Amino acid sequence: MRRAPFAPGRVPLMGHALALHRDGLRFLCELRNHGPVTRISIGPRPVHVVNTPEIIRELLTVQARAFDKGAMFDALRVPLGDGLITAAGDRHLSHRRLVQPAFHRDRIARYAHIMAERSRARADGWEPGTTRDLVPEIHRLTLDILLRTLFADPRDPALNAAVEDWLSVKYHSMRLALSPLHAWAERLPLLPGWRPPDAGPLQRLVDVQRRIIGTYRADGRDRGDLLSMLLLAGGPEGGLTDAEVTDELITLFLAGTGTVSASLAWALHEISRRPAVQRRIHDELDTVLGGRPPRFEDLPSLVYTRQVLTEVLRLYPPSWLLMRRAVRPVTLGGVRLAPGDEVFFSPYALHRDPQLYEDPGRFAPDRWPADAAAKAPRHTFLPFGAGSRLCVGEDYAWTELTLALAAFTAHRRLEPAGSTPVRPLVGTVLRPDRLPLTARARTA
Ligand code: HEM
Repeated sequence: MRRAPFAPGRVPLMGHALALHRDGLRFLCELRNHGPVTRISIGPRPVHVVNTPEIIRELLTVQARAFDKGAMFDALRVPLGDGLITAAGDRHLSHRRLVQPAFHRDRIARYAHIMAERSRARADGWEPGTTRDLVPEIHRLTLDILLRTLFADPRDPALNAAVEDWLSVKYHSMRLALSPLHAWAERLPLLPGWRPPDAGPLQRLVDVQRRIIGTYRADGRDRGDLLSMLLLAGGPEGGLTDAEVTDELITLFLAGTGTVSASLAWALHEISRRPAVQRRIHDELDTVLGGRPPRFEDLPSLVYTRQVLTEVLRLYPPSWLLMRRAVRPVTLGGVRLAPGDEVFFSPYALHRDPQLYEDPGRFAPDRWPADAAAKAPRHTFLPFGAGSRLCVGEDYAWTELTLALAAFTAHRRLEPAGSTPVRPLVGTVLRPDRLPLTARARTA
């Protein structure tokens, strides 16, 4: 049985943490040069990094039951509760079965009109000739859409404030996973390790949600929203308790906002810099929509728009680094892992592997044949993960991204504003640091 080689560049006490902090994206891409499975260390903590699509697939599908999500998710359970993202084993399986129907195609068709209407309202407020930083704009839009699809009526005035307040607490989950100090603190309990952030905002959010859940439970009506589905899941027996529903809601706030807003921001960034791509999107929107707002039924016809979004998710997968931890002895890619061993893999590095994609750094929507973009190969294209932990919100995200992109581009031409380059920020998600764009009337 092989042992995975350590990647070069390890330094005392820190391991590879400095390289990860300095330029983590490049560091992860270079690891493939050292073997299909390599070892790095974060302070004293060794981590196996899996670099080929075949072994990543083995990790996520065939061997999935030998792994849970790892130390970062243990820590996140304190401020987030134990929703789908953090849940392990049988709890994950049973919750997944109960939450999944809320994301069924029929339900997403209902949410689509909210997505289209809210996107249009926000885009319409952007006058031609004016410049905006789209990063905060899009953050507000995705939060607005999530709130309105989660809670149909009545919108509780305290809810918005409670969610904003809670989202503003920085959970720094990725920093936690990559911190050598945290890794040392696990071994040397006298060091100040990670402490859960201020519990006040979480408690306020839980209180507001409990009150809303109480109202829904009282009449048992299906209001057509996500919360109704979570409450109705499983029928009279075997459904989710109020506390479990609260955890799932909080998980959806976290999983369903930053990811979508990062992708939409990258899409607008790329489109604004490429007049030819923008023209083809305009042509497609004109042909398919003929000036009317987009609907859920239009999605299959917006083929080029889908190709553009697929290429955006290839180049900028919001979940740039994902992780697992062995829960029993297991062999992965010929390497023996013991319980507790951690494994990382990077969709970002995978998507930029020259063995898998020709000229991988180039933004080229045409690399996705029109009918293949809708079913891009699962093992070389992993923005939504794979296997039993595949993103439950994938269809929701495609729908929102397509409708929002259509709303922002249909009636205006976008141009980059200013000369400061837009840079990637690698936090919990990969997003642009800022996105100043100028809107122009399309006839101009
Ligand atoms: C472009 C947008 C999105 C991207 C790129 C994305 C990406 C991902 C990825 C990679 C995973 C798997 C993580 C892993 O294997 O460790 C995941 C899981 C998850 N996502 Fe998404 N996501 C997006 C949007 C959404 C939305 C809109 C929602 C809900 C409204 C959502 C809810 C979830 C949940 C609940 C999980 C956990 C699933 C499980 O473990 O069973 N995501 N997402």
